[in-house]
Amino acid sequence: MVNFAIFATYMSLVTLHDKQFKPYITADAIHTRVEQIAANLSADLKGSFPLFIVVLNGSFIFAADLVKMLKFPCEITFVKLASYEGTGSTGKVNEIIGLTENVENRTIVIIEDIVDTGSTLEKLHDLLKHKNAKQIKTATLLFKPLAYKKTIPVDYICMEIPNDFVVGYGLDYDGLGSNLKDIYVLA
Ligand code: IMP
Repeated sequence: MVNFAIFATYMSLVTLHDKQFKPYITADAIHTRVEQIAANLSADLKGSFPLFIVVLNGSFIFAADLVKMLKFPCEITFVKLASYEGTGSTGKVNEIIGLTENVENRTIVIIEDIVDTGSTLEKLHDLLKHKNAKQIKTATLLFKPLAYKKTIPVDYICMEIPNDFVVGYGLDYDGLGSNLKDIYVLA
């Protein structure tokens, strides 16, 4: 059972475990950008019958909002990968739930919540290339360009942010905060 003492909202600050977070990106601002990304995806990929691969857990709200705005035939599946402990990347990506779909010769769109070092993206990208995907695109809610260490292009980015730790709209801090409708940053 969740101890509500560790999930308290005082005015606009949010306390999760031992840390306080302040408002950062509103739900309205997120919605506007998700709509634009959906329009770009529709323009670029309509007719290619893409398979969207949603990286759990953090992407679940972004993915749900995004795919509802796509007006063309597509498939959606999920993988679960984790590289974070607390507020820092471990640099090691653990594949928790693997991919079962046949991706050979398909257009794939990876849906990420946030691209930080890029380790998660690279691991999935390598796997998809190995399985002979035809074309691999990436859509992410957030991108931290200063933290990114890889060379794989991140094709669709809702918002770039500095190297700050954020929660909300699917993103959590040790299990808490993902249900917040806005995005918050460490205060
Ligand atoms: P990467 O592999 O270093 O790019 O990290 C990507 C994953 O780390 C994301 O899918 C998130 O689960 C997690 N992550 C990175 N930055 C944050 C953050 O600011 N808040 C919450 N989770 C984050």
